[in-house]
Amino acid sequence: MQVENQVVIITGSGRGIGRSIALEMAQAGAKVIVNDIDEDVAFSVVEEIKQIGGEAIAVIGSVAEWNTAEQLVEMAVKEFGTVNILINNAAVTRPAMIDKMTEEQWDLVNDVGLKGVFYCIKAVAPIFKERGKQNPEALSNGKIINITSVAALTGSIGQINYSATKAGVVGITMSTAREWGKYRIQSNAVAFGIVETRMTETILTEKFVDIYKNKIVLNRFAKTDDVVPGIMFLSSPGANYITGHVLNISGGYHIGV
Ligand SMILES: NC(=O)c1ccc[n+]([C@@H]2O[C@H](COP(=O)([O-])OP(=O)(O)OC[C@H]3O[C@@H](n4cnc5c(N)ncnc54)[C@H](O)[C@@H]3O)[C@@H](O)[C@H]2O)c1
Repeated sequence: MQVENQVVIITGSGRGIGRSIALEMAQAGAKVIVNDIDEDVAFSVVEEIKQIGGEAIAVIGSVAEWNTAEQLVEMAVKEFGTVNILINNAAVTRPAMIDKMTEEQWDLVNDVGLKGVFYCIKAVAPIFKERGKQNPEALSNGKIINITSVAALTGSIGQINYSATKAGVVGITMSTAREWGKYRIQSNAVAFGIVETRMTETILTEKFVDIYKNKIVLNRFAKTDDVVPGIMFLSSPGANYITGHVLNISGGYHIGV
């Protein structure tokens, strides 16, 4: 997918979808900054990448902190010279019905999933915009891919915080596309339905599994490998004329059955 030598920051890439993106990026020759709030998993992804002959470093910290966002970019520049692609993947869920949801649950989900996305985009601004100013005719001076969810538009019972966060991510994606289009920086999002990861372990229990599967047109849950190719495409030169787009990779969950 032509991401060779591109420097890619992937937030929350110690597990799940982020980890699969990190491995695929490295396999394709990209240099990867693996971020996670959990040290062990981040270092083990870096190890896995090195074992396949790839290049990666870990930057530990929460994307809900501005310092982490700054450090991600600083370390990318120090180790690999620049940043070309930012994949805002880190997010958490704290489910509760509306009347039971606490301010802490609301704040945590929005701090990680929404403010964290804003912080990381703000942190790459100097590099992406400067490259845009220096190369006004280039077809791409940076790519941003934000991970959202079908829940952004359909809503989700027991997840008012998460669906608001993910709807906000779509707004961030569109605003960035508009503001930075003149610098030839692409900003897109991908919306997943249900992917089998730690995040969905609790809903994919015997009680709920059929209810959810029946909402998916293709009638199966995604593995992380199902969702990575779309992200690879949006990161590649083939997507140089795509911006402000939300790509649903949901097995048709977004149109319902
Ligand atoms: N799994 C699904 O069905 C599904 C559906 C729609 C959207 N998504 C989105 O896909 C993305 C990846 O989800 P996943 O299923 O792989 O989740 P996951 O829980 O398996 O992995 C998320 C990773 O992010 C890390 N993380 C959590 N808080 C962080 C923080 N503050 N800073 C940095 N890292 C942090 C976690 O430690 C974890 O390793 C998320 O944006 C999620 O909302 C997932």
